[in-house]
Amino acid sequence: MAVIVVDTIAAFRSHLDAERQAGRTVGLVPTMGYLHAGHVSLMARSVRERDVTAVTIFVNPLQFGANEDLSSYPRDLPRDLELCDRAGVDLVLAPSVAEMYPQPILTTVAVAELGSTMEGAARPTHFAGVSTVVAKLFNITGACHAYFGEKDYQQLALVTRMAQDLSFPVTVVACPIQREPDGLAMSSRNVYLTEAERAAAPVLHRALQAGVRFVEAGARDTDAARGVVAAMIEAEPLAALDYVEVVTDGTVTRPDVLGGTVRFVVAARFGRPRLLDNLAVTVPA
Ligand code: PAJ
Repeated sequence: MAVIVVDTIAAFRSHLDAERQAGRTVGLVPTMGYLHAGHVSLMARSVRERDVTAVTIFVNPLQFGANEDLSSYPRDLPRDLELCDRAGVDLVLAPSVAEMYPQPILTTVAVAELGSTMEGAARPTHFAGVSTVVAKLFNITGACHAYFGEKDYQQLALVTRMAQDLSFPVTVVACPIQREPDGLAMSSRNVYLTEAERAAAPVLHRALQAGVRFVEAGARDTDAARGVVAAMIEAEPLAALDYVEVVTDGTVTRPDVLGGTVRFVVAARFGRPRLLDNLAVTVPA
């Protein structure tokens, strides 16, 4: 394998410092591992656009709630490293929890209302955990472009704003959602789905597409548009809808009247896993 794998912050940092000193640009892809084609698309883009690509693989305890799936979150480091190597990744940091959090963490980063609605309302401690670990990863990596997926739309908005607000030397790059052939957004948590739930799960993408078509056909009423998406998901017996939101793209704010580019965002539980998806549409003038 050509990829260099380290488990200490110091080794990761000194490797990337040396690369930058030699005039090379750095791309960062933060992940929690159990990599799939969605992650690989982020890595491939970084490999195309930057001289050096670094991936982090760390299941971050701080972003899991007390009753969530931290202990059972899927892991397969040897397979992940193989995928990184094949994607042309140069460096992987796969640290232990003790390496990342050697003492109880007293300092956290919060991104106000970007972290409190939608996913933040459903998972109250989640985004403080995400912004704090991503702030650490940005500090550990140094100047770079960091690649994030639109799949986790609210996370992307939050991380982008955090980098701006706190002057991290990091440009956040948004990457499109990778889907299975039937439209289901790829996710490490899809492995939890039973066969029947897996067959039902593409309803999320179909419902989002129905919302987009409704807007393209001239609808301007925000609640009516949300209603179209919600009704389709609620009609699926294996889906327990958590929320359907329509937001002005790039924000978490619901507009009164649809205009510009808006994004439908959904979360629903299928048996054990909670799945997220979203789709943007430019409202015809
Ligand atoms: P994880 O869920 O492993 O996702 C890592 C990155 O891959 C995120 O930027 C996510 O949006 C992106 N991604 C996941 N599925 C995707 C898909 N189907 N298409 C495109 N991109 C996809 O998100 C996290 O980890 C963590 O919260 C992290 C940012 C690493 C902080 O712990």
